[in-house]
Amino acid sequence: MKSKAPRKVIYDTDPGVDDAMALYFALAHPGVDIVGITTTFGNVSVDQAATNALYLTAIANRSIPVTKGVKTPWVKPGEAPPDFIHGADGLGNLPSRAITTNTLDPRSSAQFIVDMARAQPGEITLVAVGPLGNLSLALKLDPELPTLLREVIIMGGTVDEPGNVSPVAEANIWNDPHAADAVFSAPWKLTMVGLDVTHRVVTELAFFKKLAEHHGHIATDTLHHAVAFYSTFYSGLHKHLALNPGCFAHDLLAFVYLVAPELFKLETGSIRVATEGIAQGQTMLNRRAYIDYPQAGWGRHLPQTDVCMEVDAPACLALFEQTMLSDWLTP
Ligand code: BDR
Ligand code: CA
Repeated sequence: MKSKAPRKVIYDTDPGVDDAMALYFALAHPGVDIVGITTTFGNVSVDQAATNALYLTAIANRSIPVTKGVKTPWVKPGEAPPDFIHGADGLGNLPSRAITTNTLDPRSSAQFIVDMARAQPGEITLVAVGPLGNLSLALKLDPELPTLLREVIIMGGTVDEPGNVSPVAEANIWNDPHAADAVFSAPWKLTMVGLDVTHRVVTELAFFKKLAEHHGHIATDTLHHAVAFYSTFYSGLHKHLALNPGCFAHDLLAFVYLVAPELFKLETGSIRVATEGIAQGQTMLNRRAYIDYPQAGWGRHLPQTDVCMEVDAPACLALFEQTMLSDWLTP
C-alpha cells in the first residue's frame, strides 16, 4: 500500500519545555514535515523563543526556517514570562549550550505564514501552541488565509476542565485573549486541543531518562534536562505527580491529534474568548447552536471549532514513546 505523504506543518511556538517535546515528536514522526517554525513571546520572550527554536533544530541536525514574531499581546500589557515553570531560558536553565550556527529567516512570523500559505495553497497545516498573536496578525495581513491553510490546530483553551492561570483560563489564550478571539472567529478548519485533554496525559520523567540513554544524543539529553525542571514544577502542584515525577505534555497533544485524530473525541461549536475582566482568557463553547441567543456576540452562524474533549491517554503515550525511541536522530 502506498504510504501517505507527510503533512506539511508550520509550527507556531514559544519554546518552552512542552513545546520542545512536541517539536521533537514532530521531527521523529514520519507523518509530519515541519516546513517552518514561527516563534512568539509566551513561555519566554520572543528573542529567547527564537533562540531556542534555532538551538533545538540545530542540535537535532535539522535545517528548518525559523522566524521571530510578536513580542507582546495585541491589547493588554505583557507580563514577565513564567521562569518558574520553564526556566529563565525556557529549557529548564541549561548549564551550557553547544555552539550552533543556524540563523533566523528575516521575515516576521506573520509574513512567513502568509508567504507559505500563498505559495502552497491548501497544503499547509498550522499547529499553534503559544499565544495566538502571530496567527491573528497573519489574518490581518491576509484575510483570505483561512481558505489558504489546510487546517489549524491549536493547543490552548479549556471547556470543562479548570484553567491553569485562573479558574477558567488556559495560559496561551489568557496571554493574548484578543488575538485568540480573532482566531476563533475566523472561518478556518480549526481544532482546539485544550486542557480537557492535555490534563489527562502525563509523560513520566523516567521515560525521558530512558530516551536520553537510548539515543546518547545532545538533543535527547537537552530534552531530559528541560523535562526534569518542568516536572519539578508540576510535582509541586499535583499530588499524583509528586509521587511519580512527570508533567503534562500540553503542546505534544496538538501533534498527536494531527497524526492520530482517532485517539480523540470531539465536540463542535462556536467559541468566543472573554477578553476583559475576571474571566479574561476563558474559552466559551456554545453547546446550544439551535438557540438564537439575544446576547451580542453569539450569532447562530459563527465559525465552528472542533474541540477535543476526551483522549485515549494510554494510546497517546504509547505512540509518543514508540515514535521517540525510533531512529530519528543522526549522530
Ligand atoms: C500551554 O502554556 C504553555 O506554558 C505551554 O507551553 C502550553 O503551550 C499550556 O497551558
Ligand atoms: Ca507552548
